[in-house]
Amino acid sequence: MSRPTLQQSHGPEFTRIYAMGAARGDLVVPNEDLIGPIDSSDEWIRKRTGIIERRRASAEVTAVDLATAAAREAIEKAGIRPDQIGAVIVSTISNPVVTPSISTLVAERVGATPAAAYDIEAACAGYTYGIAQADSLIRAGLAEYVLVIGAEKLSDFVDPADRSISFLLGDGAGAAVVGPSDFAGISKTIWGSDGSKWDAVGMTGSYVGFRRGDNEWPTMRQEGQTVFRWAVWEMAKVAKRALDEAGITADDLTAFIPHQANMRIIDEFAKVLKLPESVLIGRDIETTGNTSAASIPLATHRLLQEHPEASGGLALQIGFGAGLVFGSQVVVLP
Ligand SMILES: CC(C)(COP(=O)(O)OP(=O)(O)OC[C@H]1O[C@@H](n2cnc3c(N)ncnc32)[C@H](O)[C@@H]1OP(=O)(O)O)[C@@H](O)C(=O)NCCC(=O)NCCS
Repeated sequence: MSRPTLQQSHGPEFTRIYAMGAARGDLVVPNEDLIGPIDSSDEWIRKRTGIIERRRASAEVTAVDLATAAAREAIEKAGIRPDQIGAVIVSTISNPVVTPSISTLVAERVGATPAAAYDIEAACAGYTYGIAQADSLIRAGLAEYVLVIGAEKLSDFVDPADRSISFLLGDGAGAAVVGPSDFAGISKTIWGSDGSKWDAVGMTGSYVGFRRGDNEWPTMRQEGQTVFRWAVWEMAKVAKRALDEAGITADDLTAFIPHQANMRIIDEFAKVLKLPESVLIGRDIETTGNTSAASIPLATHRLLQEHPEASGGLALQIGFGAGLVFGSQVVVLP
C-alpha cells in the first residue's frame, strides 16, 4: 500500500533548567504545636527527622495559589514570555478535586496559554518525573519551553492524631522553567516503580469509601520503617546509576538535592554515596517539612539563594515516595 511519508518532529539536542521559583505556606508550624495529639515531643521529632518546624498554608490558600506564585518567579527569572511555554506540568498528590487538573488553572493565571497542561501523580518523585518529561518534550520538538511545578497542600490530608507521617508534612510549591540549551543540562533520568510496596505510603481510605461511610475522610499514613529502609538501601543504588548515566562521579558534584523526607535518610545517602565534604546538600526539610513533589525544587531554590556560587555546577537530585516510585537525574544548576 502506498502512503505519504509522515513528518515527525524533533527539537534541540540539549536542554537545561533556566530558573527556579518557590512559594512556601504562610504559616510557621513548630513541633510544639503538633505533639499533643500524637503523644510526641519536640526532641523526638528533631532527633528522628531533623525537622524543627514546617510551613503550612492558611485555609484560604490553595495549591494553585502556591503553584502560581512559584511559577511566576521562575518565568520572570528565566527571562522568557509566558506564551513561549508549550507545556505546563504540575506534579501533585493534593489536588482536592479529581478533575479538572491544577495545571490548566496555573497556565491560565501565568499567561501560558494555550500551552498543553496536565497534572502528574508520582508522589515525592513527581518533580524528577516532570523534569524527565520536560526534557523529552523539548528534545522531541513538542514544546520550546516547559514549566515544571511540584505543588502540594498536604495539610488538607493530615490527621493530627496520626503518629506515622502527619508531623512530617508541609505545604509549598517549587517551579522550574526548562528550555533548549547549547550544552547538556539534564542527564538521562533513572526512574521506575515498585508496586509490591503499594501499601507502604498512602491514604487511609478512598473517596468512595468515605461516601459510603466505610472510612473517614482519607488522610496520609505510612509504614515509616519500610519506607526508611527502602529509601536508604534501594534509592542510594538509583542515585549511583544516575551518576553513571551522567558520566560523572560524586567528586564532580556541586550539590546533592534529595527529596526532603527525613534528615536521617539524607545523611545516610551522603555516606553511602561517599559525597566529598565540598558537596552542598539540600536540607530544606529542617524548616519546611516534607512537601512531597515540591520538596526538591524548594530545596534547590533555597540552596541557590544561600549559595549563589553553586549556579552552573552539577546537582544530583533524587525523588522517591508513595507507589512506590522513584526518579533521579543530574542537572546543571541555573
Ligand atoms: C516516620 C519515622 C520518622 C519514624 O521513625 P522511626 O525511627 O522509624 O520510629 P519507629 O517506628 O521505629 O518507632 C520508634 C519509637 O518511637 C515511637 N514513635 C513512633 N512515632 C512516634 C511519634 N510520632 N512521636 C513519638 N514517638 C513515636 C514508637 O512508638 C517507638 O517507641 P518504642 O521504641 O518505645 O517502641 C521514620 O520511620 C521515617 O522518617 N521514615 C521514612 C519517612 C519517609 O521518608 N516518608 C516518605 C514519604 S515520601
